[in-house]
Amino acid sequence: MFDSGFGGLTVARAVLDLLPAEHLVYLGDTGRYPYGPRALGEVRGFARQISRYLLDRHGAKCLVVACNTASAAALDVLREEVEVPVLGVIEPGVRALVSATRNGRVGVIATVGTVASGAYQRAVAAMGADVDLTCAACPGFVEFVERGETTSDQVHVLAERLLDPVRRAGVDALLLGCTHYPFLARTISDVVGRDVVLVSSADETAFELQALLRTSGLARPPAAGAGCHRFLSSGDVAWFESLGRRMLGPELGPVEPVVW
Ligand code: DGL
Repeated sequence: MFDSGFGGLTVARAVLDLLPAEHLVYLGDTGRYPYGPRALGEVRGFARQISRYLLDRHGAKCLVVACNTASAAALDVLREEVEVPVLGVIEPGVRALVSATRNGRVGVIATVGTVASGAYQRAVAAMGADVDLTCAACPGFVEFVERGETTSDQVHVLAERLLDPVRRAGVDALLLGCTHYPFLARTISDVVGRDVVLVSSADETAFELQALLRTSGLARPPAAGAGCHRFLSSGDVAWFESLGRRMLGPELGPVEPVVW
């Protein structure tokens, strides 16, 4: 599993809880983070490099792209190139979003790169769901979360401005299409209203991973015992360890460095 940094740990948490027997290697590319403002072609290159690394060095049997921006930029190419099943966070999130709406008006908020890629618009169209989709980019949200500032007046003011399009569209279900946004759920909910269902893709991705491993005969049997968990970072490992443990919990042991 990989992400540009820490945010994918929300997906890792869901996988550890649902699939405790699976071995997990999580790579946070914090040395090149954030991906959101980068060109999609550049993010695609990073995703290909990380995927090869996880396959060749760690013998991954399946890849989870636990980053919306990387899923938007590279899922198609990874599915063509790599020899193992690849799961992203976009399709599971969209499935959950579509089943959550009652009035047929749904929203997705994500990084600039993800929204500009059109990946959510394509995923909704591919599903053939009869919904009106409003997408809004939220530049600045990730930085607030990284600073641990999730309910300040400043983030609230920013949220009021950035969430205005989804509020005006009258959505009743809003997908948090960026790994970091679940940490802003309280502020987002204050701004869009408590009656709007906030959907996070982490749990849905874990359920799809479970189904994928089962149907492809790749699941590790529970009788084999608890899985091992390794955490790797291409940036400052001490920072990853302290912030990562706050996000994931005690399973986040010593973080191993990766040098590109
Ligand atoms: N992981 C990214 C995502 O889900 C957010 C952080 C970044 O911009 O790298 O889009």
